[in-house]
Amino acid sequence: MAIVPNPHKTTGVLGWIDDRFPLTKLWKDHLTEYYAPKNFNFWYYFGSLALLVLVNQLLTGIFLTMHYKPDAAQAWDSVEYIMRDVPWGNVIRYLHSTGASAFFIVVFLHMYRGLLYGSYRKPRELIWVFGMLIFFVLMAEAFCGYVLPWGQMSYWGAQVIISLFGAIPKIGPDIVVWVQGDYIPSDATLNRLFSFHVIMLPFILVGLVVAHLIALHEVGSNNPDGVEIKKHKDPVTKIPLDGIGFHPYYTVKDLVGIGVFLMIFLGVVLFAPDGGGYFIEKPNFIPANPLVTPEHITPAWYFGTFYAILRAIPDKLMGVIGMFGAVLILFALPWLDRSPVKSIRYKGPIFKIALALFTVAFVVLCYLGLQPPSPMGTLLSRIGTFIYFAFFILMPWYSAIDKTKPEPERVTG
Ligand code: HEM
Repeated sequence: MAIVPNPHKTTGVLGWIDDRFPLTKLWKDHLTEYYAPKNFNFWYYFGSLALLVLVNQLLTGIFLTMHYKPDAAQAWDSVEYIMRDVPWGNVIRYLHSTGASAFFIVVFLHMYRGLLYGSYRKPRELIWVFGMLIFFVLMAEAFCGYVLPWGQMSYWGAQVIISLFGAIPKIGPDIVVWVQGDYIPSDATLNRLFSFHVIMLPFILVGLVVAHLIALHEVGSNNPDGVEIKKHKDPVTKIPLDGIGFHPYYTVKDLVGIGVFLMIFLGVVLFAPDGGGYFIEKPNFIPANPLVTPEHITPAWYFGTFYAILRAIPDKLMGVIGMFGAVLILFALPWLDRSPVKSIRYKGPIFKIALALFTVAFVVLCYLGLQPPSPMGTLLSRIGTFIYFAFFILMPWYSAIDKTKPEPERVTG
C-alpha cells in the first residue's frame, strides 16, 4: 500500500521514519518551532533543572534498587553494603539522597517563580494544577524514600507521619493499622513503602510531568513581564514577534544553568553529602530501634514548614487539617489572584508586602519545624501559620484593590 509522503520532505532514514512516525513534527513543535518569550531570566532555569534532577533520581534509583533489600532485617545492612562495598555505591547513594533535597530546592524556586510572575493565571491554570499534583506526589515519594534505609529517623518519622491518620475521628486508629500493615511500623510497612517509592509514585510523577509539559506547550510560556507574546505575531510567518525558538536558544541557555547547578550539586554530593545533618539527619546514621525513641523527631527540612503548621495548631485533627490545607490551598491560587496584571513588576505595594511576609513566614516556619518544641517556637509558629493562610485567604480582596502599573504591550527585554 502506498504511503503518503510526510509534509517535512525529509529523505533517507529520517524520511522513512517521518512517513510512519511524527519525529520531525515533534522536534519542530516542541523544540525548534516552539516559540518561547525572549526575556526569560534566572528564574526560568528551574524547570529544566527539575527535569535534570528527576532523571538523576530515576537513574541513581535504578542502581540503588539493584543492591537494596526491602526487608526490615536486611535494609540497613544493604545500604551499608552499598556505601562500603558496591563500586561507586557511596556516590550513587549520595547522588540520590542529596538529589532529593536538590529536587525540593529546585521545585520550591520553580514554584516561587510562578508566584512572582503570575504564571498560574489564565490560561496556565492547568500547568499549575499539574505542578501542584507533582508537588504532592513528590512529597509522598520523598517520605517513602526516607523510610527505606530503616535508620532511626526513617522508623520514627514513619511512625509519626502514619500515626497522623489516627487523628481521623472513629476510623483513624483502624486506618493507621491498615496503612502500616501492622500495629507498629514493621517489615510489612517497609515493603509497601518500597513498592510505592520505586514503582507507583515514579510512574505517576513521570506521567504528571508529561501532562505538565503538554499543558505548557499548548498555551505557551509566561515570562517575567507577564504579557502574552501570542498577541503580537508576524503577519506573514505567524511567529510571535517576542518569541525565539526554544532550540537552540534556550537549550543553550539552559546548559549554563545546568553547568552552574552541577558544580554546586556535585560539590555538596562529594564534600558534604549529609548537608550538615539537614539532607540526611544524624539519627539516620543509627539503625532503626523500635525500643528507643530519638530525642527529637524532626522531618526532613523540606517538610519543615508544613510540620511547623501541624505543631502550631493545638488540636491534633485540626493540626492535620492545617498541615494538608497548607498544601491544598496552593491549588486554588489561580482563582484567588484577582489582580489585572500577572507579573510582580506591575503589581502594587500590597501584593509585594504580602508576598514578602509570606516568604519570611514560609522560611521561618521551615526553621521552626526542625527545632524541638519551645514556648517561643510555638508562638512564632502560630504567627507564621496565620500569615501563611492570610496570604491566600485575603488574596481575592487585596489583589483586587491593589494599585497596579499598566502592563506593557510587548516584553521589555
Ligand atoms: C518534577 C517536577 C517539575 C518539573 C520537571 C517541571 C518542569 C517544568 C518545565 C521544564 C517548565 C518550562 C520551563 C520553565 O518555565 O521553567 C515548567 C513550567 C512551569 N511549571 Fe513546572 N515542573 C515541575 C514542578 C512544578 C510545580 C511543583 C509547579 C507548581 C505548583 C510547577 C509550575 C509550573 C508553571 C506555572 C510553569 C509555567 C511557567 C511560565 O510559563 O512562566 N511546576 N515546568
